[in-house]
Amino acid sequence: MAFFRTVAFSDTPPAIEGTGVALRAPLAADFSEWTTLRETSSAFLRPWEPTWPLDDLSRGAFRRRLRRYAEDQRTDQAYTFFVFRRTDGRLVGGLSLANVRRGVAQAASLGYWMGAAFARQGCMSDAVGSIVPFAFATLGLRRVEAACIPTNVASVRLLEKCGFEREGYARRYLCINGAWQDHLLYARVREDSDDISG
Ligand SMILES: CC(C)(COP(=O)(O)OP(=O)(O)OC[C@H]1O[C@@H](n2cnc3c(N)ncnc32)[C@H](O)[C@@H]1OP(=O)(O)O)[C@@H](O)C(=O)NCCC(=O)NCCS
Repeated sequence: MAFFRTVAFSDTPPAIEGTGVALRAPLAADFSEWTTLRETSSAFLRPWEPTWPLDDLSRGAFRRRLRRYAEDQRTDQAYTFFVFRRTDGRLVGGLSLANVRRGVAQAASLGYWMGAAFARQGCMSDAVGSIVPFAFATLGLRRVEAACIPTNVASVRLLEKCGFEREGYARRYLCINGAWQDHLLYARVREDSDDISG
């Protein structure tokens, strides 16, 4: 019954092609490019993310991360993708549909990050614009939610540009950079997408 739909991919979810970026599941071979990108983007990313564990950029932590991604995807809890620039195949960032809720919700939370050197080049708009149809058409979700700190102008602009509507304000919503911070709540619902019926 479509209403209570869940999905199961035999292996990894399909790659997703955007205009200038391609999205695919993270692989062990991505470690050195990923760790370099995260390290060089540390000052850019940390103010807007949960506190990084001390060993976050180590190979062991990356292996655990991949195991968690695979398990979350197998159990239909979360879908994580790395974002690659199509012109040269460079890893530029990542995004995920997490906290998938089935049953009468059919919703998930969108999260994203971009390497500092690749920011403000339209890559994340492209990636978000590509993952939303995947969420609705492939995963069968009806609602994609996102939340950001009100002072995060880049994130606010990204969401509004990608057609997310501001729905509310949640006090002390998430623990970001070591502090419980208020967030703006945004969502896109399936009915916002003209090309997806049902
Ligand atoms: C938010 C983030 C993912 C946006 O990625 P991006 O690839 O730079 O986004 P885009 O280039 O697609 O830009 C999207 C829009 O935001 C605008 N924008 C991006 N960075 C901006 C900034 N620092 N100030 C103002 N506007 C900004 C862009 O100009 C664009 O709007 P426009 O087309 O109307 O000009 C990236 O800035 C980032 O990773 N920030 C740090 C971590 C973070 O905030 N994570 C999300 C937590 S909710």
